[in-house]
Amino acid sequence: MLAAVSVASQAADLAGELPEEFTARVTGLLDRIEERLAEAAVARTDFVTQAAQHIIRAGGKRFRPMLVVLASLLADDPDDEAVVRAALVMELTHVASLYHDDVMDEAELRRGAPSANQRWDNTVAILVGDFLFSRASSIVATLGTDYVKLQSDTFARLVQGQIAETRGPREGEELLTHYLDVLADKTGSLIAASAIFGGMVAGVGQAELDALAAYGEEIGMVFQLSDDLLDIASDTSGKTPGTDLRAGVPTLPTLLARRSTDPSDARLLALLDADLSRDADLAEALGLMRAHPAMAEARQEVNRRAEVARAHLAPLPEGPAKDALAALCDGVISRSS
Ligand code: IPE
Ligand code: IPE
Ligand code: MG
Ligand code: MG
Repeated sequence: MLAAVSVASQAADLAGELPEEFTARVTGLLDRIEERLAEAAVARTDFVTQAAQHIIRAGGKRFRPMLVVLASLLADDPDDEAVVRAALVMELTHVASLYHDDVMDEAELRRGAPSANQRWDNTVAILVGDFLFSRASSIVATLGTDYVKLQSDTFARLVQGQIAETRGPREGEELLTHYLDVLADKTGSLIAASAIFGGMVAGVGQAELDALAAYGEEIGMVFQLSDDLLDIASDTSGKTPGTDLRAGVPTLPTLLARRSTDPSDARLLALLDADLSRDADLAEALGLMRAHPAMAEARQEVNRRAEVARAHLAPLPEGPAKDALAALCDGVISRSS
């Protein structure tokens, strides 16, 4: 289990070197959010509290709270309580979606801990996810109807992205287009909403909110594309490497590798379509993918998109918040490079 302080400083590290006073403000807010997250998961019975705090306490990058905090600091002195609540809503919605996602993906590990479906069972994981979502709804109601509407529309997009992923491409739909649309909906939507929530708390104008939305969508894509690269490239992500590969969930590198007509890729292409439930088969597929040029190609696309995200920040007022949002573009890429 990670201590609250390390969660806050880990999140702040993603935003790089910033003026000391600004960093202190950011970590101060993230620490408060950390405490309130655990409180928000308290239920009537110890069992539900324990199950609901399980994934919250297991750590996580707190990337969405971080975005809320940074965007809110576009104002000189945003209302701290509103910042904390907006961040709680985003992280609770995210964590709720993780409980459900791990059921869908039959995942065993989440944030380095046994996933809730593994630790208990699917029923507990689904209902605890619902419980956390209801806590998010209760908090967002205190922020106002604009916030409620954005959170509801965002969750509808997220869920439709998850459904589209499980259903797969429609007849005649291009695999890569389907994949990118899924990413935008399942991940980009909530990350964009986090940036917008921060901007709303800051009270910025419509042009700035639009910039935050465009930035958030794009950095959300970068974030998920990097995460997908980590599924193949990393043994230390806190998740089981090759989970997507084994489940047959397409990722940018596998989609790019599938386009290969090089005869030496025949074994890899066969494995990508094979049952990878045997550990030896998964390890072979992982080894071949890791050595494949599609990994470098995918990384290049991630870098390109990170620059697009950064460019969307242009209309925002200069200052440490904008600098930190720009630095996040590098922070997100460096996770998977
Ligand atoms: C995991 O999200 C699911 C995705 C949308 C990629 P994060 O990578 O933000 O997971 P935590 O919150 O840090 O555990
Ligand atoms: C998670 O997507 C997206 C949501 C939870 C909405 P993934 O299934 O790709 O994420 P991980 O790899 O389990 O974190
Ligand atoms: Mg998953
Ligand atoms: Mg999933």
